[in-house]
Amino acid sequence: MAAPDIPSELTEVASHFQQNARTPFSRRAATAIVVLSDGTLVPGVRVESASFPLTIPAALNAITTAVASGRKDIVGLYHQGAVPPSTTVLAAGFGLSPAAQGGVWSSPSGMPAPGNVIDPYIRAPEEGTAAAVEAAREVAERAHIPESNFPVGAVLQTESGRWLPGVNVEHPDWASILCAERNALGTAVTFGERSRSMMALCCPKAPGASPCGGCRQLLAELAPGIVVWMDQGASSPLGMTPAELIPLAFSGDSLGS
Ligand code: THU
Repeated sequence: MAAPDIPSELTEVASHFQQNARTPFSRRAATAIVVLSDGTLVPGVRVESASFPLTIPAALNAITTAVASGRKDIVGLYHQGAVPPSTTVLAAGFGLSPAAQGGVWSSPSGMPAPGNVIDPYIRAPEEGTAAAVEAAREVAERAHIPESNFPVGAVLQTESGRWLPGVNVEHPDWASILCAERNALGTAVTFGERSRSMMALCCPKAPGASPCGGCRQLLAELAPGIVVWMDQGASSPLGMTPAELIPLAFSGDSLGS
């Protein structure tokens, strides 16, 4: 028996966002669409890093955008483009099994009819770096942290003057955990946004914490012009540029030619 067709809304939304994929090294664009329980669609594109293992697969980008938006009610996933093996593991981690159609995963209860694409932006914080750190602290409440119980929140100002959230999203497979900073950067790429001026970061359980090495690399590649403002508890936030955070970063200039 032939598999039922993939809903055209899913393939259309995926095709629309596919152009935002950042694949300068492989030129193999990929887009994933998460389906939430009310039919809301959450896109995510593949975001390659010059450090290949730091590449954000499309499905991970979509799932982490959903979680940063406060939505964990993931009931379906559609993937356009070559599917990396990690995607099936990731889908299983969110209770989804492969469906009869290739590139589709679904919860046992099935998927609702596709609805609108999510609005990923948050309310803009007040002026100033302390207010941005406070916004990051609030966003951290959305973190999905079954492994560490260590929430992290980030907010990123975009070129359009709006703000995108990021939280850490954990799975039993630690190698596919995404940090809050990279979550926000990945969402910006999906929505065709460049970063503008600043990111603010808050680890509520560890004021004074700074971005991990992987996030520093992605910040240098995707947002070299911003300042990252880090929570310092009672003191004013500390601001550093990606170049200050990762001197002599691997640029990948001689890759992909
Ligand atoms: N984490 C971040 O979200 N950002 C960082 O820069 C450091 C680490 C998260 C990843 C993981 O969920 C937890 O913190 C422990 O590493």
